[in-house]
Amino acid sequence: MTATVPSEGTTLASHDAPLEAPCSAPESAPQSDSASTRGSYWITTFGCQMNKADSERMAGILEAMGYTVGSDEHSADLVLYNTCTIRDNAEQKVYSYLGRQALRKRANPHLTLVVAGCVAQQEGEALLRRVPELDLVMGPQHANRLDTLLTRVKSGQQVVATDEHHILEDITTARRDSAVCGWVNVIYGCNERCTYCVVPSVRGREQSRLPEAIKAEMERLAARGFKEITLLGQNIDAYGRDLPGITPEGRRAHTFTDLLHHVHDVAGIERIRFATSHPRYFTDRLIDACADLEKVCEHFHIPFQSGDDEVLRAMARGYTVDRYRRIIDRIRQRMPDAAISADVIVAFPGESNAQYRRTLALIEEIGFDQVNTAAYSPRPNTPAADWPDQLEEAVKVERLQELNALVEIQARRRSARYLGRIEQVLTEGVNPRDAAQLMGRTRTNRLTFFPAVDRHGLPPQPGDLVEVRIEAVRAFSLSGTQA
Ligand code: SAH
Ligand code: SF4
Ligand code: F3S
Repeated sequence: MTATVPSEGTTLASHDAPLEAPCSAPESAPQSDSASTRGSYWITTFGCQMNKADSERMAGILEAMGYTVGSDEHSADLVLYNTCTIRDNAEQKVYSYLGRQALRKRANPHLTLVVAGCVAQQEGEALLRRVPELDLVMGPQHANRLDTLLTRVKSGQQVVATDEHHILEDITTARRDSAVCGWVNVIYGCNERCTYCVVPSVRGREQSRLPEAIKAEMERLAARGFKEITLLGQNIDAYGRDLPGITPEGRRAHTFTDLLHHVHDVAGIERIRFATSHPRYFTDRLIDACADLEKVCEHFHIPFQSGDDEVLRAMARGYTVDRYRRIIDRIRQRMPDAAISADVIVAFPGESNAQYRRTLALIEEIGFDQVNTAAYSPRPNTPAADWPDQLEEAVKVERLQELNALVEIQARRRSARYLGRIEQVLTEGVNPRDAAQLMGRTRTNRLTFFPAVDRHGLPPQPGDLVEVRIEAVRAFSLSGTQA
């Protein structure tokens, strides 16, 4: 199994421990003749779902090459860190991991050391100068080329692959960490220019996959028993902007709403989710599609970043607080029970106390089910990093703590509405902390625990949809028994 380090980026749900999702077989079988010669691999993943999805594909490629998954990063023959640089602490974490592996490599020159993902893209060759023991530094656009790059490493080269690259469609070999819920990328990259954000410079320009390729991947997953698909993009509402075609009515031929309609009827898939939405582009048409299409779950992850219009303007987000409110109102008109989650940044350069208070007020007003919070962190090659009005660390810490307390109170309030209700839960597996309990999620994405038996003594299996009567509620999870 690969390890996932607590998220530094946007997540549908926060995990404060490495994910222990059930493992499934790789989509293509390892070639047994080479398995004994390649050795073992270990992947540690930092960051957002894009990185997790990339790691699953890279694990699939390694297994197709004949590597077998190792037991830990201290003994594996190939160690790959898939890195995140969304904030400085995410980036720094990688260097401490690399320091330990560099020591190992000095004692064992056969160890292959790979840094992939967003720090790799940001630092490129500089990373080789900093950690000369590295064999391969590869940006996210090169994830599907891992086999080619490793072949060059095996011929004795140190390789840096960070050039702008058209992402190869060959993603059929992913080794999925779950056998029930799968990620499916729909658009890579981001063309926005939020003034704080490093993502466009490390993930490159938007590249949409073709609707047919997305649907075909979902069909393959359905055939293997997957029940839930999360469609992924940094700015999923941008889907299709880069694909050619205009409809007779004069609108883009490929929008995210069209895509939802296109993939909705994949037999066997019971639930469809998506992330991340951008308030600038979120349309009423999309809300209507989510309300009308039965498999699309009533959970919306729509980051708002700040509750103050001036700060939003400085962030170059392209919407006002009022527009955000109208989107949420419209969602709730059509789907009154919908769960809403978001990302928010406090202590952006120049943010006054009054502006910060408006963020708190918006959180109170909306009543979010979950909010990913962060204090602003200056990032390389982003405009806001050079602005003179940076706030002090103490202000960042104070605002973040107060914000987190409010987020938890709100989440607790939102959880309370489930008490006594019967919720449909998709069984994902056994609770890693209590083998007598199964766990899954409601359609609204609340983690739910329930006993691993039913009235007939037969426990539900991963992939089963069960009705659970909710008997206990906590801020970010629920418990109950099968109804
Ligand atoms: N594409 C998504 C988010 C991508 S990054 C969007 O547009 O909302 C995930 C989250 O990290 C962001 O929503 C933001 O809240 C946070 N983030 C990004 N850059 C940051 C920075 N420099 N400092 C602190 N938080 C940041
Ligand atoms: Fe970053 Fe903005 Fe793109 Fe989101 S939309 S990834 S915050 S630049
Ligand atoms: Fe991090 Fe890269 Fe995702 S910077 S949040 S892993 S896009």
